[in-house]
Amino acid sequence: KAGSLAETKNMKAYIIGGIVRDLILGSPSEDIDIVIEGDGISFAEAFANDINGTVTPHETFGTATVETENGSKLDFTTSRTEYYEKPAALPTVVRSNIKEDLFRRDFTMNAMAASLEPDSFGELIDYFNGLEDIKKKNLRVLHNLSFVEDPTRILRGIRFEARFSFRMDEETEAFLRHSAASIFALSHTRVITELKHIFQETNPAESLSRLHELGVLNKFLPGSIWSTKTSAVLSLLLKEWEQQETRPSIKEEWFFITACLYTENAETAKLLEAIAATKPQKKTARDFAVLMNDVTDDVFASEGALHEFAFHLDEDALFLVFLALLCSGEQSKARIVHAYRTKRKKLPRWVSGDDLKAAGLTPGPAFKDYLFQLEKAFLNGEITNRKEALAYIKS
Ligand code: CTP
Repeated sequence: KAGSLAETKNMKAYIIGGIVRDLILGSPSEDIDIVIEGDGISFAEAFANDINGTVTPHETFGTATVETENGSKLDFTTSRTEYYEKPAALPTVVRSNIKEDLFRRDFTMNAMAASLEPDSFGELIDYFNGLEDIKKKNLRVLHNLSFVEDPTRILRGIRFEARFSFRMDEETEAFLRHSAASIFALSHTRVITELKHIFQETNPAESLSRLHELGVLNKFLPGSIWSTKTSAVLSLLLKEWEQQETRPSIKEEWFFITACLYTENAETAKLLEAIAATKPQKKTARDFAVLMNDVTDDVFASEGALHEFAFHLDEDALFLVFLALLCSGEQSKARIVHAYRTKRKKLPRWVSGDDLKAAGLTPGPAFKDYLFQLEKAFLNGEITNRKEALAYIKS
């Protein structure tokens, strides 16, 4: 329908980008992008009118989304070209034809379109040999400055490599390595957004490992350490995550970024705080880093000992510590953390201030300490009821 409408308006309509790639690969695709050689927004309005759909224009981007009666969404844009005032900045956009629109794209496999016109319906527009690259499972950029202009394409690239079992060709890999310096110019938000996409794929460990191999993981996440151990920890964490009944309230992808970067590195705390988006997440990050890096082994000797150190620490941080210890083979420490997490949720109040007075203790700030000692004794299993608690304070 979009193709026929375009014909009556003397415009041209194509599906473009990811949807074309996914149709060729037979992979599911969420977004349907349609590009119009003409005016994308006014076309989308006419199209929505034709099919009884609703249209939402996004004037600043020159795009519009049409929602059909059955709830499908189609994104319309005007074919355009982009140029970059400086590396890693957002591009300046001007109208153009389909060829130029395809040329501004990241990889050949994403730089194809297919005609929607009735006479040439389905005809592939493939100026850069995307189809051949797909057949060869080849990930290839269109020109040498692609990564320099937009270094988030490095993260997109390794994500596509993992998702489709593709591989960058030698030249693309060389361009990538040469673009490493421009990563620093990226905004923090853009890096984190792309990292989250990686964590939504099935095997983020593989992608992080690849980033490391390409020498750029450290550029995206300064201070992070990657090793076979980190990789194994992350893979196990992913499995553990699937099996957990109660998951932490922090966002899943953020949790993974945090957990995989668990290292003894002094930069960790800073890094985790930088990744964290909200105040509670920042606290979780700090607490996690402290427990992993700044404490001695005796803190994990018993639930009581851990309480001394961790009573004010965040529940999500404890959960991260539990998983990290479990996955790095520190079973006994992990057991203590797990038991502590469970027990501290129901600390009993067997003894009151009056009980302390009756036991001959002088009221004051020290009362808090006595009660804290009782909590530790309970956590260590030394007292199991009120009677034992009263005997404990007398002793
Ligand atoms: N694109 C690009 N450079 C980027 C981001 C996007 O050239 N940094 C282009 C690609 O042609 C891509 C299209 O814009 O196919 C749409 O981008 P997006 O929806 O983010 O990606 P998809 O390719 O659809 O991938 P996914 O399946 O992960 O959504």
